Amino acid sequence: MFSSRNFLPSHFVNRRVPSLMLRNSRPVLFQSSFSRNFTNVKDAEIRRKVEDVIQENSKDAESGHKADEISEDSKIPEKKVTSLGELVQKKFIDISKKLKKPKSSSHTSSAFGWKDIWNFLRNNWKQLILADILIALVVDKVSEYRISSAIENGTRPVAKVKDGQFVSRPQISETLKKVFQSEEDHSYYHVICGERGTGKTTLTRMEAKNVGKGVIYVDVPSDFENLGKAFGKAINLSFFEDTSIISLLVRKFFSSAMGVTGGESAISSYQWRRVIEIFRHASEMYKEKHGKPPVIIYDNVSRLVHKNSEILDILQDEAKDNADERTYIAVFVSSEGSVPRRMQLRSAWSRAEDPIEIGDLTEEESFNYLINKRKIDATEAGKLYDLIGGRILELKSASDKLLKGKSFEVVKKKIFTKTEDKFRKAKLLRKQVHFKAGKNVINALLNSKEISRIAFEEFFNRDEEAEEVLEKNIFAYHPERNTVTFQSRSIENYIRNNASMFIK
Ligand SMILES: Nc1ncnc2c1ncn2[C@@H]1O[C@H](COP(=O)(O)OP(=O)(O)OP(=O)(O)O)[C@@H](O)[C@H]1O
Ligand SMILES: [Mg+2]
Repeated sequence: MFSSRNFLPSHFVNRRVPSLMLRNSRPVLFQSSFSRNFTNVKDAEIRRKVEDVIQENSKDAESGHKADEISEDSKIPEKKVTSLGELVQKKFIDISKKLKKPKSSSHTSSAFGWKDIWNFLRNNWKQLILADILIALVVDKVSEYRISSAIENGTRPVAKVKDGQFVSRPQISETLKKVFQSEEDHSYYHVICGERGTGKTTLTRMEAKNVGKGVIYVDVPSDFENLGKAFGKAINLSFFEDTSIISLLVRKFFSSAMGVTGGESAISSYQWRRVIEIFRHASEMYKEKHGKPPVIIYDNVSRLVHKNSEILDILQDEAKDNADERTYIAVFVSSEGSVPRRMQLRSAWSRAEDPIEIGDLTEEESFNYLINKRKIDATEAGKLYDLIGGRILELKSASDKLLKGKSFEVVKKKIFTKTEDKFRKAKLLRKQVHFKAGKNVINALLNSKEISRIAFEEFFNRDEEAEEVLEKNIFAYHPERNTVTFQSRSIENYIRNNASMFIK
């Protein structure tokens, strides 16, 4: 009948654990429940046998526990087990202790380390692979659909200009529209450039949205880690590795082994290359359907030129290859002359169309903005235009200040303080290293407004010095004419305001 020693413990441990868990903290309750169960057992002999089993198990449990480990809890003298309820309760506590203290925790770090990941992968690889395959299939199918519909409809980015403040620039808009509406046999890529704050992003977004279909807009992030993500987001791609269990663990492993940044870099590099491949494939399908390639716009690509210039090179090579194959048309938008200068030096430049420069607003557009859009008084608008010229970013910032009640003189002072900082960074102030060469450039420009790139470089002892100064937003490089000018009218005005320092 009840001859098996294992019958009671296993039966109760397996079948009653949920209720034990609830009652574990209230042993009295547990005991009364247990006793109730046994009021039905009439046979006294059975009761005696059961109690024998209890006693034996009690001894086992105690000795087993001592042999297993000497824990904090084991220092507390343990009461001898007298009922089946207590026995099962004890068993349960033993099991929980074992679960809490896995043997694998031999390393000292309390963090979830790569050894744990490895152990976990080794013990569960079959289930993980199965789960991952299912996830991959679903993500792949969903992505395929989402990417082709993203290219089909275009990203349609929204230009961030307040309602009623937008000044139209029809000529530039027309040029951009033509670039974004590619033709079947188009075999070039494009570079759109212009000094900081001339309105490149605003017009690019606006025309990308107007053209809509087949135009993908990517805002290139300043950190490489997010490049693949930004690209993926633009084409609506869900990354399998963001949902895959194995991938999450492998990421964790990489991060432990290579440091967080190293690990993330390896993953982003992989993600980024993959997203480019996916995009290429989806572009081929788009072209087959519509008879013309889609367009991808990389805005703010100058963010890559200093820290991740090799990524820029790869993008340029990709742009060349895909222009050759007419798979997609790439458009690079840059605020810094250093981007086209770098691109021009590479063989892939042979497939680039002449750069398109977005410069300052014309006088008419500037007054339209100041007087009609911002409601600035005509006299003040005239003074502002004389000081700043048509640089929209500066016109906007000065209008904001005037409308907040600041006087023109205060605004002017702030602009000159900011400009002086730029001179300081470029090391062009008196006693600074590039003062003499810079002064010569300044005087040449005051005489002729524009000088050739070579003439500019000749004022410096080394080309690197010329490059260093050219990057600091005092002078501007114009790739389509290969010339150098002042970067903005406020720079020129600052120089005239400090004639004794700069003018011979
Ligand atoms: N046509 C326009 N009408 C009204 N406001 C504009 C226009 N173009 C740009 N702006 C405003 O001028 C500011 C600078 O514009 P935007 O960011 O487009 O310049 P950018 O050339 O892309 O600058 P960066 O070189 O820093 O990338 C923004 O605040 C924008 O709202
Ligand atoms: Mg921009």
